[in-house]
Amino acid sequence: MTRVFSGIQPTGEQHLGNFLGATRNWARRQHETDAFFCVVDLHALTIKLPDGEVRDGSLRLAQMLMAVGLDPEVCTLFVQSHVREHAELAWLMQCNVSFGELSRMTQFKDKSDQHAFVSAGLFTYPALQAADILLYDTNEVPVGDDQRQHIEITRDIADRFNSHYGETFVLPEAVIPETGARVMDLQNPGNKMSKSSESPKGTIGLLDDPKQIEKKIKSAVTDTDGEVRFDFAQKPGVSNLLSILGAATDRDPASLAVDYAQYGPLKADTAAAVIELIEPIQARYRELESDPAETARLLAMGADKAREIAAATMDRARTNVGLLID
Ligand code: AMP
Ligand code: TRP
Repeated sequence: MTRVFSGIQPTGEQHLGNFLGATRNWARRQHETDAFFCVVDLHALTIKLPDGEVRDGSLRLAQMLMAVGLDPEVCTLFVQSHVREHAELAWLMQCNVSFGELSRMTQFKDKSDQHAFVSAGLFTYPALQAADILLYDTNEVPVGDDQRQHIEITRDIADRFNSHYGETFVLPEAVIPETGARVMDLQNPGNKMSKSSESPKGTIGLLDDPKQIEKKIKSAVTDTDGEVRFDFAQKPGVSNLLSILGAATDRDPASLAVDYAQYGPLKADTAAAVIELIEPIQARYRELESDPAETARLLAMGADKAREIAAATMDRARTNVGLLID
């Protein structure tokens, strides 16, 4: 059976971009594959956060992932730091990736520009991500478009390791959805929707109330030519709305354009579709939120399942790389 692995950081609130670009596909794929989903708390430590944020955020993110449809009885849902092999394999990855390769990562360039203290961990972040993926003999990594480069470098590291030390890792493929892979900011459609956006009006949080969602979509930036057409280069704002509506209703954004002669109805339909998509998630989240002990139990169960596979891969890597086996 195809093995799927993906990870998500426990920082900030989940937004429509994470859902349409990544987690919705995770929920869909869990039924057809052997799927592992990981709350990557060690990755969150690459940037200094307020005390307690990683701990609380990990629990809340796990609950949100269950609310969007990940079923811990169907897939393996766990927290990265609960499986020690992630940090251990990351070291072997760091020793098999070059300074030059890491220097070319666009996520590092973006994030290091935003912070005064640039940790070594932020620089070696892709090595830890490669460890996450390779530990599980992963075939497919479902992610948004921004993660393409990280999956490429994971393949390069695996390939290099295999040719130096013998067949050890499976080479993974990125799986990027056709619609929703890049949800743009509603106020700045040139940037992707993100939790760290300058204006909260540009990002739709999965916990925003329906009135807020409607308001944000109605005030989304468009343009002045008044024509509804799917053309990201010329009409980024309108195309982003079509793309959100398309992803929310599982329709092709370009063919949706012909249904609209004006921006008003496009915005109204997009808001309604997004609210319909998000409301049941919010209801499930509220239920899960009330029982943190149950969430902790489910995460412990996930970590047990993950550890079993991770330990076997780690043993193989330790042997092949040439360590004295204890
Ligand atoms: P992040 O929020 O950066 O931790 O990303 C978590 C997952 O959501 C990754 O697979 C990203 O590729 C995906 N993602 C984040 N932002 C967006 C966006 N604006 N559009 C589509 N996918 C996104
Ligand atoms: N770097 C990913 C992001 O920013 C998160 C991540 C960490 C990840 N490890 C992973 C994604 C392994 C896929 C597979 O979204």
